[in-house]
Amino acid sequence: MPPLLDALRRPLTSLRLSVTDRCNLRCAYCMPEEEYRWLDRAALLTFEELSRLVDLFLSLGVTKVRLTGGEPLVRRDLAELVAQLARKPGLTDLALTTNGLLLAAEAGALRRAGLHRLTVSLDTLEPARFERLTRRSGLDQVLAGIEAARTAGFRELKLDTVVLRGVNDDELAPLLRYAKSVGAELRFIEYMDVGGATRWRREDVVDRRELLARVAAAFGPATPLPARDAAPAERFVLPDGTTFGIIASTTAPFCRSCDRSRLTADGHWFLCLYATRGIDLRAPLRAGADDAALRALIVPAWSGRSDRGAEERLALADRGAFAPLPQLRDDPHLEMHTRGG
Ligand code: GTP
Ligand code: 5AD
Ligand code: SF4
Repeated sequence: MPPLLDALRRPLTSLRLSVTDRCNLRCAYCMPEEEYRWLDRAALLTFEELSRLVDLFLSLGVTKVRLTGGEPLVRRDLAELVAQLARKPGLTDLALTTNGLLLAAEAGALRRAGLHRLTVSLDTLEPARFERLTRRSGLDQVLAGIEAARTAGFRELKLDTVVLRGVNDDELAPLLRYAKSVGAELRFIEYMDVGGATRWRREDVVDRRELLARVAAAFGPATPLPARDAAPAERFVLPDGTTFGIIASTTAPFCRSCDRSRLTADGHWFLCLYATRGIDLRAPLRAGADDAALRALIVPAWSGRSDRGAEERLALADRGAFAPLPQLRDDPHLEMHTRGG
């Protein structure tokens, strides 16, 4: 089935599936507050419901699914869901983004269940800094998780580093060396003004240009590599052969080629990371809607999609946090940890 095209001719090929809004860390760039309003547990989609919606999206041309959270591994029996999804013929790319804390125990089961690819968030190699940044301990567990992923046979392993000025921007070189030593590809991510990042300030962003200059100062010039797919990262290679990526969503967004939408754990479908409203698929699903009725919600919404959230943010003269705290309390769907990173 040829993919469905939106108003800017962008295909619906990638679905980010949040399996829980809960997280076992509190990263400063994502969940800086003390108190959260969580999604109602009864509203969370069951594995059967998730699987049905994935079938529906596959029937419309989606080929890539990424499981996200919150932290996806806090969802009980996640490997069972992975096994259910991995059996679906149209799904050619099944990936997971995790903070790695629970990965050491789960990597083998995830691999056996048929997960293709893993991305682990890693912002620092210093235990005390990890605790300050995430307000929890556990760097050792994350590093053990990365090792376990290698042992379990995940060859395409990526590490994601959100770079914050004055917090971890002195660790670019050690992080690159570490990634190389474990056979992973690191991506530096510009700090984004997404919902949830209530402390975001432009001054704290270390942008693409500065990242490249700093990496070049440590290793020599970075040469661009051809893009592999619609992935948001630009890839580079260093004189010593190390490859790495930069995801410059804040200063050089990839909206023009964005093929992704996201489903929250309670079944709200968002067409853009910065969208303020999603489409509730859970209510019709639970009211007994058949596939045709659900497709009739999805198809026109994607066909009419013209969202360019990150580009619109870039055009703002006075850029600050995306949503004030009371608005986040009012609608937790605005939070990055609810819509899956
Ligand atoms: P790959 O196809 O494996 O490269 O997936 P990915 O890069 O999408 O995976 P990942 O979950 O690691 O996302 C990396 C980062 O890209 C996220 O943490 C965000 O910072 C950014 N990102 C993800 N989705 C979007 C999106 O829809 N819009 C924008 N502007 N940025 C996004
Ligand atoms: N800026 C950039 N990336 C973010 N993430 C969460 N919040 C932000 C933010 N404010 C991404 C990180 C993390 C993933 C789960 O979500 O990449 O690794
Ligand atoms: Fe950190 Fe991811 Fe948890 Fe957000 S969802 S607090 S980025 S681990």
